[in-house]
Amino acid sequence: MAGIDQRIGMKLSDLETPTLLLDKAACERNLACMASFFKDRPSNLRPHFKNHKCVTLARKQIAAGAVGMTCAKLAEAEVLVEHGFGDVLIANQVVGEIKTQRLARLAKKARVGVAIDCLEHAVAISKAAAEAGSTVNLLVEVDIGMGRCGVQPGEPALNLVRDIVKLPNICFAGLQAYEGHLVNVLEREERASRAKSAMQLAVETRKLIESAGHKVACISGCSSATYDSTGVLPGVDEIQAGTYVTMDKQYKKLVPEFEIALSVLVRVISRPSVHKAVIDVGVKGAGCEFGLPGIRDFPDVEIPFFLAEEHCVINQCPDWKVGQLLHFIPTHACTTCNLHREILVHENDIVAEIWPIEASGKLT
Ligand SMILES: Cc1ncc(COP(=O)(O)O)c(C=O)c1O
Repeated sequence: MAGIDQRIGMKLSDLETPTLLLDKAACERNLACMASFFKDRPSNLRPHFKNHKCVTLARKQIAAGAVGMTCAKLAEAEVLVEHGFGDVLIANQVVGEIKTQRLARLAKKARVGVAIDCLEHAVAISKAAAEAGSTVNLLVEVDIGMGRCGVQPGEPALNLVRDIVKLPNICFAGLQAYEGHLVNVLEREERASRAKSAMQLAVETRKLIESAGHKVACISGCSSATYDSTGVLPGVDEIQAGTYVTMDKQYKKLVPEFEIALSVLVRVISRPSVHKAVIDVGVKGAGCEFGLPGIRDFPDVEIPFFLAEEHCVINQCPDWKVGQLLHFIPTHACTTCNLHREILVHENDIVAEIWPIEASGKLT
């Protein structure tokens, strides 16, 4: 039997770096804050697993009231189902024969939904599901302005529904609609009103499809930045917020009611000159495609350069010594978690638990 990991009970200052950390109390407050928002509302939370890819954290989200998980990838959904989750939605298109076969097999073990935006998607999934003897729930993705995947709202969406309902081994389960183009609008009222107008396109499409005699069981979409605006729009059923639970530097500007729980513990490894410090993390340890990380407790220190694989150079640094520990706050929690295999969960600067990130690197 494997013994207890030696790192449990260690002070953060004794850990090797870089290491992904989660502040347990902050994470629990984020879980409670979101759960209390949805407690007495008609809509439900279906958190996006892509944020952390960690089964333990997903279980906590379900325990806090979430109705199921949203995934970006089929492989993420497979991880969740392997670990006993019974209801997963892949909010993206699953294309290619091997994948549709995997999807169909997965649907034998759990309630599985997937987004589609053309008849070819539905035909391929229907064929695979008929061969596997399963039923896959299809959500017609409507492009409400993001310009990524999705059929146009209104008649084009209705026409697709008319085509797919005739197919065997699939069930038309509703609409997928994500207002991702508005997530980063900083001004909250403007974000809310623009997101509501966008999501209203999905709600109107729902009415059109229902008036043509097809039940639309659900509209699923929204984000951590719009949970309280589009998430309460009548006709929207499921909110796919992800980042609220870990948070990151970018999201803190958008929804400050949630706390930054995630950080990357790093060390100063060199002081080559009086103003310069070199840190032991680069793009292989902290997702930075939304911008450079912040440094906790040093809001005025900027990282001017963050392109190296394993290094980060700071040109104007305070009086840090070689070995000094820092908490980097990533700008993008989702890509950061995907770079790590485990999260060290800490309480009062002591490692309390270590959670594997089971779906890290699962891209198919
Ligand atoms: C389909 C979909 N739903 C919801 C979200 C929202 O996730 P988050 O709350 O982390 O922004 C995303 C983010 O990319 C997404 O792609």
